Amino acid sequence: MKKASKKQKLVFPKNFLWGAATAAHQVEGNNIHSDWWEWEKGGGGTEPSGIACDHYHRFEEDFRLAKELHHNAHRLSIEWARIEPEEGKWNEEVIQHYQEVLKSLHNKGIKTFVTLFHFTLPLWFAQKGGFEEKENLKYFDRYVDRMAYHLGDLVDFWITINEPSVYVGSSYLGGYWPPQKKNFLKLIQVYLNLARTHRSAYKSIHNIKKDAQVGMAMNISTFHSFGGYLPGMIVSKIAKFLANDSFYFLTRDYHDFLGINYYFFHNFSLKDLFLLKKIGLKSIEETMMLKRSDLGWPIYPQGIYEVLMDLKHRHLPIYITENGVADVQDKHRENFILNHLQWLHQAIEEGVDVRGYLHWTLMDNYEWAFGFKPRFGLIEIDYKTQKRTIRKSALTYAKICQENAILLE
Ligand code: BGC
Repeated sequence: MKKASKKQKLVFPKNFLWGAATAAHQVEGNNIHSDWWEWEKGGGGTEPSGIACDHYHRFEEDFRLAKELHHNAHRLSIEWARIEPEEGKWNEEVIQHYQEVLKSLHNKGIKTFVTLFHFTLPLWFAQKGGFEEKENLKYFDRYVDRMAYHLGDLVDFWITINEPSVYVGSSYLGGYWPPQKKNFLKLIQVYLNLARTHRSAYKSIHNIKKDAQVGMAMNISTFHSFGGYLPGMIVSKIAKFLANDSFYFLTRDYHDFLGINYYFFHNFSLKDLFLLKKIGLKSIEETMMLKRSDLGWPIYPQGIYEVLMDLKHRHLPIYITENGVADVQDKHRENFILNHLQWLHQAIEEGVDVRGYLHWTLMDNYEWAFGFKPRFGLIEIDYKTQKRTIRKSALTYAKICQENAILLE
């Protein structure tokens, strides 16, 4: 990467979108008709989501803060389980609520990214087998149609599905999210059905709004095999194809843009493949002296450049729809943002068409099976009082959003 000279300014393209992302179940609270709520009630995960950040009622305050922090874009998800709490029963008040939410953003000059499925499902749908059954896809199609009709004028970017690979991996392979199945055959079925679902959602939204921008958010990681060790290289290539590329392969002509969530650094070197680090040899992450988040995830900012360069040949506009760090003390976040953005800027310099960056996340929230402990927020939440406090790193990021540039000392 070009070393910045003293007080160098790295300017981003005109109209670049800056903001943060959230997901309904993680922030809204009381998502009582969802499969996750039921699962939490039965003891799933570390703790129940409860009222979470009460964002369902406090969205106005939260968006005011986002505006104060100079965000000009925001990603949120709408909750199908609230909209259609029972099969075929549509809750008009909830639809109106989401219209208000989106209007609030529009009135503040904030562009909207709206996710239709971010890991949670209506309980009734999950009980019918969810995305395991091809038969069930019609229910999701119906929901998408309605949303395109009712919200279409207020949505700037549609994200049909969030991270299919993480969803199937966590729910059908690792078995640590509902429906907690460890079943490879089901994993394949769900994956293929999600691809079908994306393709038909893409078409439905375009049928209703011709000029809609429709994409999805994919979890894209870096895959390495340091040391040029052949089996490691092969495993890393296969893992990369499955995790990063296979879903795009199944949905290739159905993207107006690419939504990229970047978090992970994976490496398959000799030591790691044969678990030699278990006997005390240093892992690659240790050798590279990568810092780690509170969840133990290595922090590798250069990776955002690597994944962007790898996606260049797809010739689609790219938005980073998530990137962030669990960091309760806010000791890594500022550098995390600065370093990732410098690498992102470098990718733009080298011709990648990146048009926006949405940090994960606006405020601390319910981190799925890990509960409330990991804190990814630009804004800190006191869950006892629901008080919002802007973190120092959020101010650094706000400056970047305001200037559309990074000023390097
Ligand atoms: C998900 C978010 C999650 C974040 C941090 C992403 O995979 O889309 O819902 O909170 O990672 O783990």
